[in-house]
Amino acid sequence: MTAPPVFEAALAEAQAWHAALPEARAFCPWPDDMTWAGRKPHALPATRHITQTPGATTAQSSALLTAIQALIPHADWRHGYTAAQVGQDFLDRFCWCELAGPQGHFHSNQTRLTLAYWGPNLFYPRHHHAAEELYTVVSGEALFHADGTPDATLGPGQTRLHLAQQPHAMTTQDSAVLTCVFWRGGDLAEMPSLSA
Ligand SMILES: [Fe+2]
Repeated sequence: MTAPPVFEAALAEAQAWHAALPEARAFCPWPDDMTWAGRKPHALPATRHITQTPGATTAQSSALLTAIQALIPHADWRHGYTAAQVGQDFLDRFCWCELAGPQGHFHSNQTRLTLAYWGPNLFYPRHHHAAEELYTVVSGEALFHADGTPDATLGPGQTRLHLAQQPHAMTTQDSAVLTCVFWRGGDLAEMPSLSA
């Protein structure tokens, strides 16, 4: 079974994005083991905000944003956290999907590629995981925090590396943020744990 055109288009834009970002190319090669996994769509309230308030883009990132917006009705959107952990407002304005990876729309054991959105004025609590991750900002901006690393406000085309088990957090202010996140090492299917 082949992937629907909307997923092929998003994957092609993600690959172009990876190729254009030196930090992403250095972090992981583009996977060559991907097969279409055919996950069912799953809607979440936050997905409408990706269209309504995505935040600013650059000329380069607007094509990827458009491709992600086209995926909204078709993707398996997830939270991975509960209201008891992060609050209902956070869950209403946060969502992610796995475009490629062990549990992705495209199956890959080599890497994991997630698309994640946070609305304005949210605090993503401190958490950690065994896999390393490279955040790349597609639209909007956020203030990134990580133990041992100075805070940084990052916008479209900028990246942030989180090492294995390095606690990190994120704050959005006036703008939402949409990110394309590459993962490597560790257990790529592991959910993050909230840090003490
Ligand atoms: Fe993380």
